[in-house]
Amino acid sequence: MPVLCVNVDHVATLRQARMGIEPEPVTAAYMAELAGAVGIITHLREDRRHIQDRDVELIRATCNTRLHFEMAATEEMQQIALGLSPETVCLVPEKREELTTEGGLNCVGREQHFKDYLAPLHANGIRSSLFIDADPQQIEAAHAAGAEFIEIHTGHYADAKDMNQRKNELEKILAGIRQAQDLGLKVNLGHGLNYRNILAFKNVTGISEYSIGHSIMARAIFVGLDRAVRDMADIVRTFAD
Ligand code: PXP
Repeated sequence: MPVLCVNVDHVATLRQARMGIEPEPVTAAYMAELAGAVGIITHLREDRRHIQDRDVELIRATCNTRLHFEMAATEEMQQIALGLSPETVCLVPEKREELTTEGGLNCVGREQHFKDYLAPLHANGIRSSLFIDADPQQIEAAHAAGAEFIEIHTGHYADAKDMNQRKNELEKILAGIRQAQDLGLKVNLGHGLNYRNILAFKNVTGISEYSIGHSIMARAIFVGLDRAVRDMADIVRTFAD
């Protein structure tokens, strides 16, 4: 059955808006787990704009489910991941100017680079995922790089300006899921998913995890985090195996 993993970066964004002490991402992680999240996701960015080192350490120490650590493929992050021992690392591209991760990783032609980069993580029992667009060449390359999972970037689908574009983006994702599954890759989906647009995946089989942050935190402002996570977990629970 697919499961919901909750990204708590946005809680840190709110705290960092005042460079203050609240709200605490670790509290959000704990509440999200109680409400049905099966994994907690944090992205420690190179510029530390939201999640801080202390946040991931606290979440690692208290996480009762799985910790998924999103990171750029840098030497610094590799060392942090080795010290942290998250269940999974998800490699993402990172640009300083971007508001959020804007697209998938470019793996084509860099298969061996990623294979070498992931090797020490794999040797320490950390599973790997590559965040990529639903592009056949990227999926092939992610497979060749030896990742166990890919996370298909759903942001272009979520941000589509009209029905036609949305349908095209959805078709690309569905084809990507089939291709990845044929190659033996495990598939997660994430970015821009909300309580409505996620319903397009209801009958899609073989998805491991849905990685969701912003829409849950946005709803939490009005209904509370517990209810917001439960509402999303209830949706994901009705999805095909
Ligand atoms: N997956 C990846 C790789 C991401 O970078 C993000 C955003 O931090 C998400 C999933 C979650 O996206 P959103 O916050 O739009 O739900």
